[in-house]
Amino acid sequence: MKDTYILGIESSCDETAAAIVKNGREVVSNVINTQIDIHKVYGGVVPEIASRNHILNISEVVKTAISDAKIKMSNIDAVACTCGPGLVGALLVGLSYGKALSFALNIPLIGTNHIEGHIAANYITHKDLKPPFLCIMMSGGNTQIVHIKDYTKFEILGRTKDDAVGEAFDKVARIMELGYPGGPKIDELGKKGKATIELPKTHLDNLDFSFSGIKTAVMNIYHKNPEINKEDLCKSFEKTVADILIQNTKKAIELTGIKTIVIAGGVSANSYIRNEFLKLNNIKIYMPDLKLCTDNAAMIASAGYYDFLEGKISDLTLNAQPDLKMK
Ligand code: KG4
Repeated sequence: MKDTYILGIESSCDETAAAIVKNGREVVSNVINTQIDIHKVYGGVVPEIASRNHILNISEVVKTAISDAKIKMSNIDAVACTCGPGLVGALLVGLSYGKALSFALNIPLIGTNHIEGHIAANYITHKDLKPPFLCIMMSGGNTQIVHIKDYTKFEILGRTKDDAVGEAFDKVARIMELGYPGGPKIDELGKKGKATIELPKTHLDNLDFSFSGIKTAVMNIYHKNPEINKEDLCKSFEKTVADILIQNTKKAIELTGIKTIVIAGGVSANSYIRNEFLKLNNIKIYMPDLKLCTDNAAMIASAGYYDFLEGKISDLTLNAQPDLKMK
């Protein structure tokens, strides 16, 4: 069978990325231009600045992805662009670029859901992974438990009522003056700490999550005692978050009987959380390669490949959808 090459384009937040993926699973090239250094002086992503930098970077990033792949433009079968969820101005840059390429090369355009991309990062890392499975999505903008019924069929079983887990990591790091992005900083400090500080866990009857109470508790503890051992506070925060994620994972396994668990999204890079998931008994656990946990375009190309196989093609009226839900 002929190989299928998908060009993926990602610009939903502060990474401008492009990648070529073969047959949905094999990364042929993967280029990421991150704006972290630009935004860190503001303590978080400034949407307007992100959009402007995507415009400056997008051409070079896409050209490099194609030249690194050592393929001709005519070998590209389709272009998959993130169309949501994300920052509208940022999304529009990658999407407009992808539309122009689709029109110029006369190849299909696929509007790809960023969250589905994070899940697909696992198809690249694990060649044996196939639906059905449960995915614990833990990213900067989303936290949910998803039943992946098939490559393009999903059912959300639970979601956060307030903050996304990555958002909680970033806000807690900001409270503790650790800098941006907070997740990796908490990960580093937590490695040296002990989980000695009690933090509240919100118990919900269903599979939903809540993380804002933990964030407020860390804020109160830190403001009362800024001399507190930050390493212990980081470890205690990570442990509380991991306990909540794992408690709901166990409930979801019980409810569905599905014992294949996938974690995905930026927070799935957290060393403590990865380790805790590995301790779960009698289940098969999959996690993305560390470099595919945070935003990249290879995962968008992989998710786009499965839409392409299903004939889920978009036309040039496709718009950015900042609050796009999973299908
Ligand atoms: O998935 P992602 O790239 O963004 C969205 O698609 O929303 O995730 C970014 C998030 C940020 O909140 C960042 O702090 C967090 O992932 N993150 C981590 C780690 N690396 C990135 N959180 C905890 N530990 C890490 N090692």
